[in-house]
Amino acid sequence: MKLPEHGANPHRLYEQAGHKQPSEVIDFSENVHPFGPPVFLKDRWGDFFGLISSYPDPQAEPFRSAAAEYHGVEKEQVAAGNGAAEIFTWLAKRYRGKRVVLVEPAFSEYRSTLESQGIHILEINLKPEHAWQLQLEDVKKQVANCDALYICNPHNPTGRLLDLTEIEEIATLCKGKCELVIDEAFIDFIGEHASFIPLLKRYPHVIVVRSMTKMYALAGLRLGYVVSGSSIIQELTGAAAHWNVNGLAAAAGARCFPEEAYRAQVIGTAASERTKMEAYLEAMGCPFVPSAANFLCFQLPDPERSEQFFRAMLEAGIVLRHTYSFKGMDGEWFRIGIKNASAMERLRKEMHRWFQDN
Ligand SMILES: Cc1ncc(COP(=O)(O)O)c(C=O)c1O
Repeated sequence: MKLPEHGANPHRLYEQAGHKQPSEVIDFSENVHPFGPPVFLKDRWGDFFGLISSYPDPQAEPFRSAAAEYHGVEKEQVAAGNGAAEIFTWLAKRYRGKRVVLVEPAFSEYRSTLESQGIHILEINLKPEHAWQLQLEDVKKQVANCDALYICNPHNPTGRLLDLTEIEEIATLCKGKCELVIDEAFIDFIGEHASFIPLLKRYPHVIVVRSMTKMYALAGLRLGYVVSGSSIIQELTGAAAHWNVNGLAAAAGARCFPEEAYRAQVIGTAASERTKMEAYLEAMGCPFVPSAANFLCFQLPDPERSEQFFRAMLEAGIVLRHTYSFKGMDGEWFRIGIKNASAMERLRKEMHRWFQDN
């Protein structure tokens, strides 16, 4: 089956899978949470509208300074991008002509941006027999051969979290050998205590990439940032387009950092819905990967029936994230973004119906 490489945009999936799209669809294939952006964005929309006719600040202010303040770093250590996705295009240029290690299965943009620069890609393959946990032994073997190692924490697609001790061990292994890129696009679902950013002072070869689109539901606005030593940041942004971050994103993004109650609500709901879903999967005998993020990977008790199940869910208006494009998962696992209680209930109902009929 040739299906889209990304979640979201379900009409494309229905078209490529050859199914008619039902009038109502719940899209579990994307990882944006269902609570919408912080309310100030709607309430103060008029203020933001006023920014449209002017050119934005070329350094993405006021966002850049707000991000630096939030993390307690210098603003020279921060650069903002048109989503974290843009930052991966800068990184690929940085490693042109070099060797980069990816931990597979992985977010597909790492590979596509690196391949577009003709970079030699090496792999560490996560395995179900290790519960998809990254093995330090594998890291040790690969860091000697490369210029950069990309790690996603918590990992997409599995949701597995490496704690700070584990990441520090990896950062130490990389020291003097290669740069370590940590994609923390989903770390907000755990909290800042899990982020590597406060440790950057001790590890100048580490680059942390963050996204504003996941926690604050700003996927359409596009905003991400990168934090590292100021010289790396300067080198990275050398080829960035002028005005790469639009004025609405820079203004709205800056206002998001004080939204502590919003973050707590999103984290709490995602965690409790994830726990309910894990209990259901357990009861149905479906293996799943313990996740710290707002998504969850599971398998059917009989993975050979995965395609039939996936298509039945599509017909019922339930869009799961297929894993044909995730190396090692090969369509035999599914990833679901955690949605609100009623959507999750509907998912369990449709799954239950399928289990009863099959
Ligand atoms: C692991 C990971 N990193 C980065 C991104 C890109 O995020 P953004 O929307 O900020 O470009 C995604 C988007 O799905 C992702 O899954």
